[in-house]
Amino acid sequence: MPHDFMPGLAGVPAAKSAISDVDGTRGILEYRGIRVEELCQHSSFLETSYLLLFGRLPNASELTQWVNDVTHHRRIKFRIVDLLKVMPEHGHPMDALQAAVAALGMFYPGRNVKDVENNYWSAVRLIAKLPTIVAAWARLRRGDEYIPPRDDLPFAENFLYMLTENMPHPLWSEVFDDCLILHAEHTMNASTFAGMVTASTLADPYTVVASSIGALKGPLHGGANEEVVMMLRDIGTPAQAKSAVEARLQGKNKLMGFGHRVYKVKDPRATVLQDLCMRLFNVCGTSPLYEVAVAVEQLAGERLKEKGIYPNVDFYSGIIYDKMGIEVDLFTPLFAMARVSGWLAHWLEQLRENKLYRPDQIYSGEHDRHYVPIDRR
Ligand code: ACO
Repeated sequence: MPHDFMPGLAGVPAAKSAISDVDGTRGILEYRGIRVEELCQHSSFLETSYLLLFGRLPNASELTQWVNDVTHHRRIKFRIVDLLKVMPEHGHPMDALQAAVAALGMFYPGRNVKDVENNYWSAVRLIAKLPTIVAAWARLRRGDEYIPPRDDLPFAENFLYMLTENMPHPLWSEVFDDCLILHAEHTMNASTFAGMVTASTLADPYTVVASSIGALKGPLHGGANEEVVMMLRDIGTPAQAKSAVEARLQGKNKLMGFGHRVYKVKDPRATVLQDLCMRLFNVCGTSPLYEVAVAVEQLAGERLKEKGIYPNVDFYSGIIYDKMGIEVDLFTPLFAMARVSGWLAHWLEQLRENKLYRPDQIYSGEHDRHYVPIDRR
């Protein structure tokens, strides 16, 4: 049967899903039918994770149980800590995270993906342990001791505490939790699809999440948040933005943190993140990167609006993390800590009506060639 070739599978539905939806022309993102702005206003990251995984908001006792389950599975085995200790300290944190998540699968039962209860505990463990791994790596690579999680601290606060051993400003925890909500899920993106391909082979969830982490790392996807901050630092001041944007566009270089396969207007997450920047700056003072970013957005808007290219989720997130003193190469792992909820929601959905992903190709090579002995080539 002949097929149209769609590079990058653009516009090709790869699954039916009830988890999230994007309206790319109106700039709307919903998780299970609820807009992300509303979730940021009223929900928490863990409650949102429950919503994504199980399709509805939990009642009070379900939420307490879920939060307790995640809270009590944050610790990582000393062998995972040992594994992180022997990795090269200059290696990228996404590689350390991917390796540690794959290794988690060696400690916990995950192979029987028909076991519904075990699948629940796999989801709990992955959501609980990713922040501990990221914080442990951030400290161990510079020779500091790993700080174990504290069961008395909520999710976001505990992560910021594990990074520094200091209690974060309450506003930081609030803003960081909202950042996690905004990054938790986003329809059929590259890392979700990568995980679903792996899930369709009935691989265990640790391998599924490790596959997704690999896809998220690239600069065209989650890795863009790191690149944005480098770009803004490179530009330096708002006054230099005009020449820098022009030079980039004339050199056919992309502006990092701009453009999206689905959104043809400003990404709604970028708008919320910009508001979060303002909330943070009102209390902690502004950021020079923010001033540059606003100038870049204005100039890029004039130059790129005809192509429907506007800031995406990665444009303002890094400015927030930078203000909190988090190192740039940890930004994409922070994305993974949140997106693991979406990956797992798609994994569970995929398992309900699994079909092995095995797409077709359009062969463009030759036929009927013959082997040529090496002395005649
Ligand atoms: N800066 C300048 N021009 C751009 C940008 C950008 N950031 N993004 C797209 N364009 C232009 C392209 O040059 C191309 O122009 P042309 O038609 O004149 O050749 C046109 O817009 C279409 O671009 P494609 O890359 O083909 O569009 P696609 O849908 O494949 O790209 C992508 C989406 C990969 C996100 C792209 O916009 C990009 O590379 N952006 C920068 C990286 C980035 O911020 N990634 C994060 C995305 S959000 C996320 O994954 C979490």
